[in-house]
Amino acid sequence: MCGIVGYVGDKQAADFLTEGLSKLEYRGYDSAGIAVYDGEKIRVEKCVGRLAALRDKIKDDVPQGTIGIGHTRWATHGRPSDVNAHPHTDCSGDFVVVHNGIIENYLTLKEELIEKGHAFKSETDTEVVAHLLEEVYNGDFEESVREVLRRIEGSYSLVFMCRQHPDELICTKQDNPLVIGLGDGENFIASDIPAIISRTRRTYILNDGEMAVVKKDSIVITNRKGELVTKKVFEVNWNAEAAEKGGFEHFMLKEIHEQPKAVRDTMSQRVAKDGKSIVMDELKWTADYLNDFNKIYIVACGTAYHAGLVGKYYIEKLARIPVEVDIASEFRYRDPIIDEKTMLIVVSQSGETSDTLAALKESKRRGAKTLALTNVVGSSIAREADQVLYTWAGPEIAVASTKAYTTQLILFFMLSLYMAEILGTLPKERIAELVAELQKVPAQISETLSDVEPIKTFAKQYGFNEDVFYIGRSLDYDVALEGALKLKEISYIHAEAYAAGELKHGTLALIVEGVPVIALATQKSVYEKTLSNIKEVKARDAVVIGIAAEGDDELEKYVDHVMKVPETDELLIPILAVVPLQLLAYYAAITRGCDVDKPRNLAKSVTVE
Ligand code: F6R
Repeated sequence: MCGIVGYVGDKQAADFLTEGLSKLEYRGYDSAGIAVYDGEKIRVEKCVGRLAALRDKIKDDVPQGTIGIGHTRWATHGRPSDVNAHPHTDCSGDFVVVHNGIIENYLTLKEELIEKGHAFKSETDTEVVAHLLEEVYNGDFEESVREVLRRIEGSYSLVFMCRQHPDELICTKQDNPLVIGLGDGENFIASDIPAIISRTRRTYILNDGEMAVVKKDSIVITNRKGELVTKKVFEVNWNAEAAEKGGFEHFMLKEIHEQPKAVRDTMSQRVAKDGKSIVMDELKWTADYLNDFNKIYIVACGTAYHAGLVGKYYIEKLARIPVEVDIASEFRYRDPIIDEKTMLIVVSQSGETSDTLAALKESKRRGAKTLALTNVVGSSIAREADQVLYTWAGPEIAVASTKAYTTQLILFFMLSLYMAEILGTLPKERIAELVAELQKVPAQISETLSDVEPIKTFAKQYGFNEDVFYIGRSLDYDVALEGALKLKEISYIHAEAYAAGELKHGTLALIVEGVPVIALATQKSVYEKTLSNIKEVKARDAVVIGIAAEGDDELEKYVDHVMKVPETDELLIPILAVVPLQLLAYYAAITRGCDVDKPRNLAKSVTVE
């Protein structure tokens, strides 16, 4: 989720590069850099921190030249640092590259290239691309880039510069965005439209596998086979603010729609080549290591805590280790029983939440082994924990967490399968079956997102004015908690989640005619039980919206409306079932005119107690 820019023309490249990057800081802001050809060599300037740090670094000696590339980074491989910042170069400095995405086979390529004598400077996956280009370069820039593309696997948008070809940039993309802005005697490249909108509104939007050779007065686009592609000019008619949100009205909606990609990225490199098991190179756990623990604590706040509840279910069900889940602000003060036989898993999107960090430090002090699940490389929690698993969701800007939650669930699911295989708690065939189902999830989320109209209608129709109840059993209850939190925080409607079986122990007194109840019934193992709880609320004339899996023709007989999500293993359904709840909260907030991205009283990262 980094930001990329490129310029070729008559003007000073550094001006556009820094201006363009400033519009892309929402895509990543842990380091930034530019590379400009100065007539002799390609000069690279980069540093850790926000773009302001780079501007400050070069202010008295701005790289001069009319062709260049730039990057603002959101770290995946390698912590934020000067050396890990992009652009990356080969050994000679003649080949320079910026990259957005993940090169999945970088470790194999890196080993190969080191054997051939290449010296690496950074911990990034991107640097292999520059060295690989140096390795295969045969005097033909375009053909050499094609060879690089044949050898790399993963997702990317890439822009290449080569000292020997100082009048052209080559760019390409796979599963990551890339646009070319058409100027007069100059052309622009960017990962996103906001970067170029102040210079031109005429663009080519590249498709996967397309490659463009961009010079100041020509752009030649070819497909994977090298055949010419004729593209239509896309005139951007969004304003700058809308462009930043990728054309979505709010960051939250954009981030909800980014979930298929965020989930795919989080899975990448963690599914074995044969697709039958999970690999976690970051952990390298053994049965002896795991057998030493008698308990796991999962500790987090808010949405991350809700992800932890699902995590507990996964670990206990699949790996058969007892798990307790705690709210960090409670855990840190309740004198929990922790020793060397305890594993502590903290979950935090930002990696900076003060209560979670304190719980982590306290547990370490008492001897626990610690693992962090976080989205921010180099964050305080990532640095403090013994081991880290990253969700590769990219920056989450909206206060209400969406893609962080789904990627946390994915990570917990993979972690549990990984543990199950090591401990032998699940037959190999069952693991393979679950890994196969897991890989369908990104497409299933896309399917769930493909028709939001009914959800918009429910949000309007019911107005959701006072109280809304969310009910479910088992994993459905965990998702209900997250659905209720989403509605509360952005629409300010009082929403409560209850374990459906708990209703008759008190809360049923609140269910009267017309009260909206969102009933999740996706868990086959407790389906009949949930159904009888739904009948209880229906008998009190509640308005019930059911969430069910495709293929369930029963639920609609007992509720007012049903929203369906694709059918999958019941363990994976939470990752799909939360999506309509996120959308329902979003559209309810819109209907009420709330400031969706910046709800009242809330901050994105809670770094105080
Ligand atoms: C809700 C939300 C919060 C966070 C919580 C923890 O949408 O965003 O509840 O989940 O503040 O934040 P992180 O995950 O950054 O530790």
